[in-house]
Amino acid sequence: MDVYEAVTTRRAVRGFTDRPVPMETLEKVLSAAAWAPSGSNIQPWHIYVLTGEPLARLKKIAVERVAAGDPWDEREYVMYPPDMTSPYADRRAAFGKERYAALGIERGDWEARIRAAIGNWDCFGAPAALFCYIDRGLGVAQWSDLGMYLQTVMLLLRAEGLHSCPQMAWSQVRRTVADAISPPEHLMLFCGMSIGYEDVTKALPRTGRAPLEETVTFITD
Ligand SMILES: Cc1cc2nc3c(=O)[nH]c(=O)nc-3n(C[C@H](O)[C@H](O)[C@H](O)COP(=O)(O)O)c2cc1C
Repeated sequence: MDVYEAVTTRRAVRGFTDRPVPMETLEKVLSAAAWAPSGSNIQPWHIYVLTGEPLARLKKIAVERVAAGDPWDEREYVMYPPDMTSPYADRRAAFGKERYAALGIERGDWEARIRAAIGNWDCFGAPAALFCYIDRGLGVAQWSDLGMYLQTVMLLLRAEGLHSCPQMAWSQVRRTVADAISPPEHLMLFCGMSIGYEDVTKALPRTGRAPLEETVTFITD
């Protein structure tokens, strides 16, 4: 698979089979992803890999917690600014509309929306997941390093025939994750990432993108 194919076939997959992901494959992907760039090569990421019983236990506790209506853990970082303006607010709204329409969920059907959201904490059925931490003392530039690293992981997963879904949703139950993996206090959970083989029977239409001229400006002779 060439890089273009890896980029264009990567999607946030929200339906996985239970086919196990070989640990050697995860080790191979994470070893290669370590070559992702970071300012001054500080490599500001720390990743926990969960599979098997430890992941099954965490998913069960998290799903039960959310299904019981337990409030989220207090936020450690701002997921989206509350005063997000156009075009970002519009794009976010369009994404939500597209996603729930594809699932056949009506606009005001909050129960169905919550049911769909709960899939997050079951890792959408995936048998492997990463929990991606950054040192809480680091700044926005290092968060950008982390993003590059995570995209590198996701592209390498495509090369192995695997799919993924990065999930900030896990940060909403970060204490439940911490109970499972006991990270040191100086680390902050940015997101989880579900990993597995796609359940093609649950595949939804690809999420669109803004036209190139909205996000890229060419200045040339
Ligand atoms: C940092 C990050 C966090 C995300 N968090 C979630 C999440 O919690 N749940 C979810 O279903 N999708 C999540 N997504 C997936 C995005 O919704 C998805 O990437 C976006 O809509 C574009 O769609 P695509 O990745 O399928 O092309 C996240 C993506 C990123 C990059």
